[in-house]
Amino acid sequence: MINAAGPEVPAIRLSRVTKRFTPMVLGLDDISLDISSGTRVVLLGKSGSGKSTLLRHVNRLHSPTSGAVLVHGTDVGTVRGRQLRDLRRGIGMVFQNFHLVGNISALENVCSGNLGALRGPRVGLWMYPSAVRRHALDLLDRVGLAERAYQRSDTLSGGQQQRVAIARALIQQPSVLLADEPVASLDPESSADVLGILTRISKEDRLTVLMSLHQIEYALGFADRIVGLREGRVVLDESALNLDAERAMQIYSAATGTTDDSLTVAAGVPQPLAAHAPARPGLAR
Ligand SMILES: Nc1ncnc2c1ncn2[C@@H]1O[C@H](COP(=O)(O)OP(=O)(O)O)[C@@H](O)[C@H]1O
Ligand SMILES: [Mg+2]
Repeated sequence: MINAAGPEVPAIRLSRVTKRFTPMVLGLDDISLDISSGTRVVLLGKSGSGKSTLLRHVNRLHSPTSGAVLVHGTDVGTVRGRQLRDLRRGIGMVFQNFHLVGNISALENVCSGNLGALRGPRVGLWMYPSAVRRHALDLLDRVGLAERAYQRSDTLSGGQQQRVAIARALIQQPSVLLADEPVASLDPESSADVLGILTRISKEDRLTVLMSLHQIEYALGFADRIVGLREGRVVLDESALNLDAERAMQIYSAATGTTDDSLTVAAGVPQPLAAHAPARPGLAR
């Protein structure tokens, strides 16, 4: 845990965050957002709308040009050294392309997520303390892969590799999990599996999950809340229960922040993402 903050403190707070990469490139434009502990929030938006940039501000891979990012009440911009390491340990991350080491086992990949805590080079599975190996096995079991523990990671399917990557992110026992397009490389069935596993673990562990997705239907099936980004701004922020796919599509419309977006959607502005979205997967809430 990052901070012994009370329950009223949001897990993640962005306070007027602006990120300007260059004078001409604005990544985030005055974003304020509070995300409660244990909730699952999905970021939707076109490519280039700022989803990855936002995620990368939470664990300080990016620093804001102005504004502040707080995780459990701690301003991530103010921590240094050991505090920064502790902060990052409390925030897991998974990516579109899994980022596993291919020629080692699933179990060793999961153990390697503990590297920060071990503070040493990776020197093979048997050099990890048995408690770490046991924990890693438990996590593989939680993602349904206990029987694959000793299989070379690059022989696993994409969905299985992403499940290993989730287990690896969880070995640090984070309170926040960031996921950047975690199912963008997966087929619909594997995507639903991965999102279902994330939902279950989020509920069981009260894990706050902030993830970007391309598919509205998955977002509606997975999220408690959907935040739509366009050109670095929040253009929609709704409970998933109150939202239908058609209205969520407005995030992708060409107009910027006008009240006429619904008209442009109705008029058939290209909607490349939802047009290819699979049927609503009906994930358990
Ligand atoms: N490291 C960077 N340097 C310069 N511009 C960047 C950098 N990262 C992202 N951007 C720009 O910021 C904007 C948002 O990008 P990004 O967050 O990657 O969008 P998304 O993840 O929604 O596709 C884009 O215009 C992108 O080109
Ligand atoms: Mg991105």
